[in-house]
Amino acid sequence: PVAHAADLVVFGGTGDLSMRKLLPALYHCDRDGRLAPDARIIAVSRGGLDDADFRGKVEAEVRPGLHAGDAAGWGRFLRRLHHVCADVPAGHDAPVHPGWGRLTRMLAGREDTGRVFYLASPPMTFGPFCRAAGRAGLVTPSSRVVLEKPLGRDLAGARRINDEVGAVFGEHQIFRIDHYLGKETVQNLLVLRFANAFLEPIWNSLWIDHVQITAAESVGTPGRRGYYDHAGALRDMVQNHLLQLLCLVAMEPPARNDREAIRDEKLKVLQSLRPISGTEAARFTVRGQYTAGRVDGRAVPGYLDEPDDTPPTDASRHVETFAAIRAEVKNWRWAGVPFYLRTGKRMPYRRSEIVVQFKDVPHSIFPGGEPNRLVLRLQPGEGIHLRIMAKEPGAGEVVPRPVPLSLSFADTFHARVPDAYERLLTDVLAGDPTLFMRRDEVEAAWGWIDPVIATWESTGGLPEPYAAGTSGPVGAHELLGRSGRAWHEEDLP
Ligand code: BG6
Repeated sequence: PVAHAADLVVFGGTGDLSMRKLLPALYHCDRDGRLAPDARIIAVSRGGLDDADFRGKVEAEVRPGLHAGDAAGWGRFLRRLHHVCADVPAGHDAPVHPGWGRLTRMLAGREDTGRVFYLASPPMTFGPFCRAAGRAGLVTPSSRVVLEKPLGRDLAGARRINDEVGAVFGEHQIFRIDHYLGKETVQNLLVLRFANAFLEPIWNSLWIDHVQITAAESVGTPGRRGYYDHAGALRDMVQNHLLQLLCLVAMEPPARNDREAIRDEKLKVLQSLRPISGTEAARFTVRGQYTAGRVDGRAVPGYLDEPDDTPPTDASRHVETFAAIRAEVKNWRWAGVPFYLRTGKRMPYRRSEIVVQFKDVPHSIFPGGEPNRLVLRLQPGEGIHLRIMAKEPGAGEVVPRPVPLSLSFADTFHARVPDAYERLLTDVLAGDPTLFMRRDEVEAAWGWIDPVIATWESTGGLPEPYAAGTSGPVGAHELLGRSGRAWHEEDLP
């Protein structure tokens, strides 16, 4: 591995994302030799912690989940950690918090070291953080900034953030994270499509009946009302994660494995999405909200009764915890092929997958055949499964039976499947933005989502209820059922 010299400054460095995802991923990067000996991780937050307090917090909250048996390695990782107490200035001319002085002193003399500003804080702080870093003279030509989602809550908001960040950093320095792009199966999709000859000739409307993209979660949203009431499933999952997956399935083969070539092709897919608004939103989209039910044998409350410091409001009643959309990519390759997207909280299982359903054989000579189906499983159990028809052994009547041809990454490669953040942080350190969203992609995605949300809001209706532990509202099944299709619910090996 290449060890990258860097100072990683994490704004919101003691928050949930940092403690749950970033620090574990950085620990693994360190353990695998991908951090230079003098690389530092500097958490910035409003909490009055010193380095020792922060290290103690990480020891208590992060280490138990890591099974970090290697005491020397863990000690080395802890010594990289620092904490600076600083806040964002409230306005353009507001006085700068004294913490910025400490940060400036810590970074002084290391201008040639790669410098990464990771904004793991709410999007309204992105502009002010970048401005403050710029004013303090901390942004060097080799600096990078990483932006966590959500990037705004509509196109106008995303543009504003992009402008504010763009006033301090060049586009080549900006890394907009979508952690789904770091998932092993997602990257494998590109290899599967573009390093094998057999798929590409049939990867089109002549052979493919439809595509399903599901990100189902069994968790609810306890304690997240403040964020979730104003986001909802469409903004939280579809605008970014699911549309990115759709792009990778639908994109044309790029000329090179190159950051701009790949992102150019993804952008073209977003630009080809058929707009959905007005009466079409009622036909092609479904939104749901979970009510009380049972998940994993346990009784759980409905969305409005989730424990939270913030009591439910009217916004809570209207927000969707489940969304399904029938999308269409209007180009030569995909004309007429529906792409069904769905995501929801409190579904019966945690499962993210892409399902490509092929057409029936043109002429069937056996009874009871089923069409081929390619399932790309993102989680759990990362792998690829192709449903083929095979003859059941025996001397009687020939009856084809659907069986999976399965590739499990863990079993085949005998390697730990790294967390998406590990991959993406390694790419940030290496300065490779291929798996990050370019400004035009993010804005094109919002441009497609905005009219759907506007239509939902203008009708004022409530989302369809579905009991926790079920696979979404009735409408989601009708969305496919109308054309004789059904969601893939099979649990593969
Ligand atoms: C995040 C969403 O982006 O993705 C969360 O904000 C969601 O609501 C999470 O739970 C799902 O990620 P993963 O990797 O667990 O599928």
